[in-house]
Amino acid sequence: MLYKLEVENFFSIRDPQVLDLSVDGKVPDPEGRYAPIFEGADVRAPKVVALYGANASGKTTVLRALEFVVTMIRDSVARTVPGFAGIERFNDVESGSRPIRFAIELGGIINLTPEVFQRATSGEKVEQGTYRYELEIELKEGLAVRIASESLRQRPNGQGKWQRVY
Ligand SMILES: Nc1ncnc2c1ncn2[C@@H]1O[C@H](COP(=O)(O)OP(=O)(O)OP(=O)(O)O)[C@@H](O)[C@H]1O
Ligand SMILES: [Mg+2]
Repeated sequence: MLYKLEVENFFSIRDPQVLDLSVDGKVPDPEGRYAPIFEGADVRAPKVVALYGANASGKTTVLRALEFVVTMIRDSVARTVPGFAGIERFNDVESGSRPIRFAIELGGIINLTPEVFQRATSGEKVEQGTYRYELEIELKEGLAVRIASESLRQRPNGQGKWQRVY
């Protein structure tokens, strides 16, 4: 389950912003609005999230960031998909020469391979934890030109040091 989104230099977001939806295990939840971020986790996140705010406050920007990250995770190996045509950095002089950055954190099965996935779907208990995915897009003359870095790290049981997956 996704519980964190970080965005920097993307459309109306200039400085790094963190949207952290994680809820401490001690917070009561009589209505059942939260779900564990991975099976067995104390930390939870809301099952449904609403974004509200004034016009031009950045709601669509947040959704665009999430959509772009998901597309990059799914399709960045296919070089022509998605391209950078639909994305913009923050429109001031200084932001034209620094990267666009994203990060997401989510919980789920770690050390994930087709074999582990198979075991999990047949009801076997498999190792759970959190992932952190980071993406940095390089700009040239204010335009997004290439992926400067992309990484995925995991943390068994959501604790301790991040371990690099790629
Ligand atoms: N590249 C950019 N750099 C700086 N600001 C931008 C950039 N692109 C769009 N904006 C500004 O971002 C704001 C729009 O943000 P966004 O569309 O996320 O708001 P919203 O909350 O979804 O608004 P609405 O309620 O109208 O749908 C506008 O003020 C627009 O001028
Ligand atoms: Mg909008």
